[in-house]
Amino acid sequence: MSNIRAAITGIHAYAPEYVLSNAELEKMVDTNDEWIVSRTGIKERRILKDPALAASDLGVEAVKGLLEKTGTSPEEIEVVICATVTPDMMFPDTANLIAFKTGMKNAFTFDLSAACSGFLFALNTGAKYIESGTYKKVLIVGADKMSAIVDYTDRSTCILFGDGAGAVLLEPSKDGETGIMDAVLKSDGVGAVNLYQRAGGSLNPATHATVDAKEHYITQNGRPVFKAAVSGMAGVVKEVMKRNNLSADDVAWVTPHQANLRIIESVASMADFPMDKVMVNIHKYGNTTAATIPLCLWEWENQLKKGDNVILTAFGGGYTWGAILVKWAY
Ligand code: ACO
Repeated sequence: MSNIRAAITGIHAYAPEYVLSNAELEKMVDTNDEWIVSRTGIKERRILKDPALAASDLGVEAVKGLLEKTGTSPEEIEVVICATVTPDMMFPDTANLIAFKTGMKNAFTFDLSAACSGFLFALNTGAKYIESGTYKKVLIVGADKMSAIVDYTDRSTCILFGDGAGAVLLEPSKDGETGIMDAVLKSDGVGAVNLYQRAGGSLNPATHATVDAKEHYITQNGRPVFKAAVSGMAGVVKEVMKRNNLSADDVAWVTPHQANLRIIESVASMADFPMDKVMVNIHKYGNTTAATIPLCLWEWENQLKKGDNVILTAFGGGYTWGAILVKWAY
């Protein structure tokens, strides 16, 4: 095994301008601000209003900012992996479109689908390209235009989701001691019945009937997903801490997927973390699927210090879930 470690050397994120508030949702479905805030912690979410723009355009904004702030030219990027459940199209891959729109001419690209855990799965995949010594600049993007697959007449899901994107640059760790330290990633198809988009794939190709039945939208059975998310994330956070001999005192930050504030609080309590060590911005963005974790890291970037232990954790459709231990590199 090589002793090269992969490190996050830059981060940027983007959320579209339009703010969809709970007050506006009250006019669309039978709901209210008090219910949404007390059950989910969400006050508003951002929506990409322009119908001509898609997940790749969200990704482009995050990538452009990242390249600029890290002083990287697009031609230097060798691999682009985009985690998304809302690709612009079934194919070509959204990473390819992002690379084309930003001039990353020398990169090979692919998408990775693991719902809300997509960013973690992509980060771990990208790290392997660095650790193997094959590549030196790998770009990981999480981009989702959830508003494209949300039914705005279904109050149980339309309050939850928002649009956004984030991107990180992975490079070989300069000191060999900071970077991606460990990952515990899991999948279990038992969850497929509780969270899915029924139509549009090869099982139920889109037809007039599938559209009439609204099968191109997200379907979620919230309660079992809630329970599985709490036990799933708490389990992998504890596992990654045990494997690396870390107590809660040794960890500077936990960066959880932002699906529901009550889920985040339960996971923190089960893993013995005070909430002041837990990144939370769900009140502003809702659940942006593959973008929640980079949106948090981006907002907390100035507070992160070299050597900080940061645990990223997510849970999503599939089920898929995981935790990644990062020793912050800059
Ligand atoms: N406003 C008002 N009432 C509502 C709303 C709403 N927006 N939505 C549902 N209700 C009602 C329901 O109809 C139900 O009414 P009833 O008791 O008369 O039948 C009641 O509120 C309770 O509904 P529940 O679904 O049991 O509410 P719960 O407390 O479980 O909250 C929620 C629902 C927020 C969806 C929660 O279950 C949840 O967050 N689940 C997990 C979501 C998640 O983590 N998803 C994974 C990531 S997503 C991905 O991978 C793409």
